[in-house]
This record gives sequence, structure tokens and C-alpha cells, in this order.
Amino acid sequence: VTKQASAHSLVVGGTRGIGRALVELLISEKHVVSVIARRIPGVPLQGDVRYWAADLQELEGISKVLNEIVSHHGKLKNLVFFQRFKGEGDKWEGELATSVTATKSIVEACIDRFHEGTDKSIVMVSSIAASLVADEQDVAYHVAKAAINQMSRYYAVTLGPKGFRVNVVSPGTVLKAENSDFYARQAELQKFFQKTIPLGRMGTAAEVAKAIMFLCSPDASFITGQNLFVDGGVNLISTETLARRLTNQIP
Ligand SMILES: NC(=O)c1ccc[n+]([C@@H]2O[C@H](COP(=O)([O-])OP(=O)(O)OC[C@H]3O[C@@H](n4cnc5c(N)ncnc54)[C@H](OP(=O)(O)O)[C@@H]3O)[C@@H](O)[C@H]2O)c1
Repeated sequence: VTKQASAHSLVVGGTRGIGRALVELLISEKHVVSVIARRIPGVPLQGDVRYWAADLQELEGISKVLNEIVSHHGKLKNLVFFQRFKGEGDKWEGELATSVTATKSIVEACIDRFHEGTDKSIVMVSSIAASLVADEQDVAYHVAKAAINQMSRYYAVTLGPKGFRVNVVSPGTVLKAENSDFYARQAELQKFFQKTIPLGRMGTAAEVAKAIMFLCSPDASFITGQNLFVDGGVNLISTETLARRLTNQIP
């Protein structure tokens, strides 16, 4: 991946999980990083990173935060969205507000806050649940992720002439700092993953971060409106094959 000196990247939802892994990678690649989340971490990452607290379920005050971010770190080169609803209250309203409305509003508010250079990158993190149905997520999550996929295509077309590339990354379930103990204890589940994921294992937050980093780099300068699956190939296998593999009836 080509090195970009002091590019400013805004990571929405970059305090945990995959977002945090991306912030670590951006810092190691010498980016200047701004992070938005509801809570600022007690122990911030070391590097050229600064955190802003904002609850994106309510967008009041977001332009003040964006103004502060740009006046502190300069105009943006990259904008990446990780936030999803984890709050109290109505899940449908909460998920649509946090995942969909906030993403749209921040994209639109940031258009004039990007640098004048030719390459401007926006990445929205979606999920294989935008098209497949996953037991462990509710209807709002599925609908919000499908909306994000189409939103990225809409902005790829409408913002393309202004030099913006807009792409989606769709992870499968990944190992992250917060769940690695849980999965380490699930020997049975790991065996199933081995049989059902073509690459034979779960992916990691760092691997998803690298795919996002690629889409934010000049190496992806002609890629827009795409959905990059980072799932070890799990969405490729037919139900019949899956059933046979899990019941050891391999032809
Ligand atoms: N983990 C997986 O296996 C997986 C698989 C497929 C897709 N994804 C997608 O990847 C993204 C990241 O997931 P994750 O599990 O790594 O992270 P996560 O634990 O869900 O963290 C989400 C981030 O968003 C922030 N956030 C949540 N609600 C917010 C709000 N109302 N306002 C502002 N910030 C808010 C969180 O910080 P605060 O809580 O402090 O606000 C945190 O920084 C999500 O979009 C998820 O759907 C994850």
C-alpha cells in the first residue's frame, strides 16, 4: 500500500473492535487521526490521534464537532464509518438513526470539509447481514446494513465528479480484542468454522482494517461503489454443501 504522508482520517466509531484496529493501523502509517464515539477511551492510543465525544443518535451539535476536528487536524482525506446502535430504547429507531441517518448527515456535512486533492475516500462498514439473514442480529441491523450498501452506491455516483470514492467493506464475524476470550473457549464452534469457511478460520479486526486501508490508499484510486467482502469466503458456500460438511456427509 502506497504511503500517504500526514493524511487526515476521520474514523466514526473508532474506539473499539474493528474501528480501533483501523485507528492503530492509520497511526502506524503516520496518518493524523480523529475519532468520534460516545465515550472517549480512558487510555487513548499513542500517536497523532484525538478523540471527540458525540452521540450520533442525536445529530445536534455534530457540525460544531466537525468544525473542531477540521480546525484541529486540517481538512479530511479519508472518512470511515463503523458506528452501529448499541444504546437503550427502541432498536428500530435507534439503529436507523445511528447507522443510516448519521452516516448520511456526516457524509453531507463533510463534503466541504475534505481537502482539495484529487483522492478523497469514504468507506462504510457494512456486514454480510446486508444480504444474508443472521440469527444473532435483529431486523433493524439487517435493514440498516442494506441501506448503507445502497447509500454508498448513491454517493459513489453523485460525489464521483467531485473526486470522492465511496466503498463498502463487509466483514464476516471477526476476532477482536473484545471477543477473543469468548471464541478461544468455543472449541466446537471453531471446528465448524474450519469446515464452513473456505479459508478455514475466523478473520481478525486487523485483517478488515487492512482492507479499509487499501480502499483509503491511492492504490485504490479507480475503485468506487464497490462492496469488498472480508469474510474468508463464507458467503460462497451453498446450503447443501454446508449441511453435508456439518454432518460429515462429504461426497
Ligand atoms: N465485529 C464483527 O464481527 C462484525 C461483523 C460484521 C460487521 N461488523 C460491523 O463493523 C462495525 C464495527 O463493529 P465492531 O463490533 O468492531 O465495533 P463495536 O463494538 O460495535 O463499536 C462501534 C463503535 O461505534 C461507536 N458508537 C456506537 N454507537 C454510537 C453512537 N450513538 N454515537 C457515536 N458513536 C457510537 C462505539 O463507541 P461508543 O460505544 O463509545 O459510542 C464504537 O467506537 C459495525 O458497523 C458492525 O456492524 C462487525
